[in-house]
Amino acid sequence: MKKILDLISEPLAEAFQASGYEREMGKAVLSNRPDLCEYQCNGSMAGAKKYKKAPFLIAEEAAEALRHTKGYEEIFEDVSVVKPGFINIKVKSSFVGSYLNGMLAEEKLGVEEAAAPKTIMIDYGGPNVAKPLHVGHLRSAIIGESLKRLGRYMGHRVIGDVHLGDWGLQMGLIITELQERQPDLPYFDESYDGEYPAEAPFTISELEEIYPTASSRSKEDEEYKERAMQATYELQKGRRGYQALLGHILSVSVSDLKRNYEKLDVSFDLWKGESDADPYIPGMVQMMKEKGYAYESDGALVVDVKEESDTKEIPPCMILKSDGAALYNTTDLATLVWRMEDYHPDEILYVVDKRQELHFVQVFRCARKTGIVGEETALTFLGFGTMNGKDGKPFKTREGGVMRLENLIEGINEEMYRKIIENHETDKEEARKTAQVVGLSAIKYGDLSNQASKDYIFDIDRFTSFEGNTGPYILYTIVRIKSILNKYRESGGDASRCSIQGEAGNGQKELMLELARFNEVMENAFEEKAPHKVCAYIYNLANEFNHFYHETRILGEEDEQKQQGYIALLVLAKRVLEACIDVLGFSAPERM
Ligand code: ARG
Repeated sequence: MKKILDLISEPLAEAFQASGYEREMGKAVLSNRPDLCEYQCNGSMAGAKKYKKAPFLIAEEAAEALRHTKGYEEIFEDVSVVKPGFINIKVKSSFVGSYLNGMLAEEKLGVEEAAAPKTIMIDYGGPNVAKPLHVGHLRSAIIGESLKRLGRYMGHRVIGDVHLGDWGLQMGLIITELQERQPDLPYFDESYDGEYPAEAPFTISELEEIYPTASSRSKEDEEYKERAMQATYELQKGRRGYQALLGHILSVSVSDLKRNYEKLDVSFDLWKGESDADPYIPGMVQMMKEKGYAYESDGALVVDVKEESDTKEIPPCMILKSDGAALYNTTDLATLVWRMEDYHPDEILYVVDKRQELHFVQVFRCARKTGIVGEETALTFLGFGTMNGKDGKPFKTREGGVMRLENLIEGINEEMYRKIIENHETDKEEARKTAQVVGLSAIKYGDLSNQASKDYIFDIDRFTSFEGNTGPYILYTIVRIKSILNKYRESGGDASRCSIQGEAGNGQKELMLELARFNEVMENAFEEKAPHKVCAYIYNLANEFNHFYHETRILGEEDEQKQQGYIALLVLAKRVLEACIDVLGFSAPERM
């Protein structure tokens, strides 16, 4: 469906043209004075210079022409010109009503899917194997998942890749520590050429303890660190036993990670990691050398990526360390090689902590310069800010440690459970389930309602509140609508046969106008990669709905036609809210 703003702009453009001005001047936008009007047109202000005429006069001419333009009667209720040259607009409720009925008739509620779907790869999640998921990985998962869903809603082919951190010194550290503890395992015996055991020699909790132990020991024990570096090097060179250990580390870690991401309702199409890029490294390095992009500097292999317009120093992109080991740059570049070969994406989007920006500037420039990624593929870095505690510092446990994601989720669910039980009597088991659903909305909405690039304060009390700009408030509104619709059905009504009436008053029109914005909001949120715009929209929408609800007798309404109009409006509000929360990555319970 066309956007409602475009439908209003069409006759405006006609009117400007008929008065001898550019069509482009006739563009409707949302009013920034909702007390005065619903939409406004500011074109005369912009055109005043070009036509050397007072904007007020231009606006008056255009408004007069509008009154004689096709579509005027149907769309406009009131058009007035105010100083210094705005056209203030109110539209007819019947016009909005029929627009909303058009939305009701469509599965995607008036959103037009992309005519030429793009292939978009999203690199998000980015957990490191052998380490538990902690709050530092929360934002990437939540924002990335939402962008994936938003892209799909708009009709694109979106591929999510978790991009595991499984290829650096951390692997060597684990191998070294394991050898300390279990030196007799066949993985360490270089002369062993039999099959390795299918079972991993550790559990996930052992693994999660091995890594930090090894990491702190390497900081104190130089010889130990040397060994870990050597192990990393040999792993990267393909030593059989170490490769087999890597396989075990991966399978044990990945099943644990999947379990955790499931709790967040986050999923990935690809479970690739840095190690999957390894086979592409030798060819890539050779190409960079042959084409003269890579050169040796202090023994390391580097590619210059600075540009003349740089205002700050962008250091060369290091491809191989002096010992020949691969770095974070190397795996990211080689990952681009297979992504391009296998998927030919139109865009690759990285949802990563904004402190990694310089890394991505280097990687992107190097990939373009060396031809790994061509012009037709966009490379985008969406850097997100830090999740802070109430003290304004990075979120920590009460004891000051890094908080595991699992514990964070549990804490929220506990708080939600307490609130639900406090609110009304329910079956304990049902309350637990509801607490999980609502708890997830608290976490995700709390995160997504902030612009991704900004730091924000993770405030459990505020996020779990049923009032204000929170996930639970949105869900509460949806549950309220569901409950009215259920009662309507129980009393014999059939909501599917109802249609929206062109009726104003009691907050109904405000609600209607808000609903009509849906396709525009979604399109804009997608283009700007801004889930926070979807949040802002549903917060307004929920407020408008609740205002309407408090002013209106819905189930008690005696005029049947009127009542059917209300019911249809509720159906649409529910569908729009549900489509939005689905894109944000959570869902609503039946009761709460
Ligand atoms: N594993 C990395 C980290 O924890 C994030 C990976 C981001 N993605 C990428 N392609 N580099 O910092």
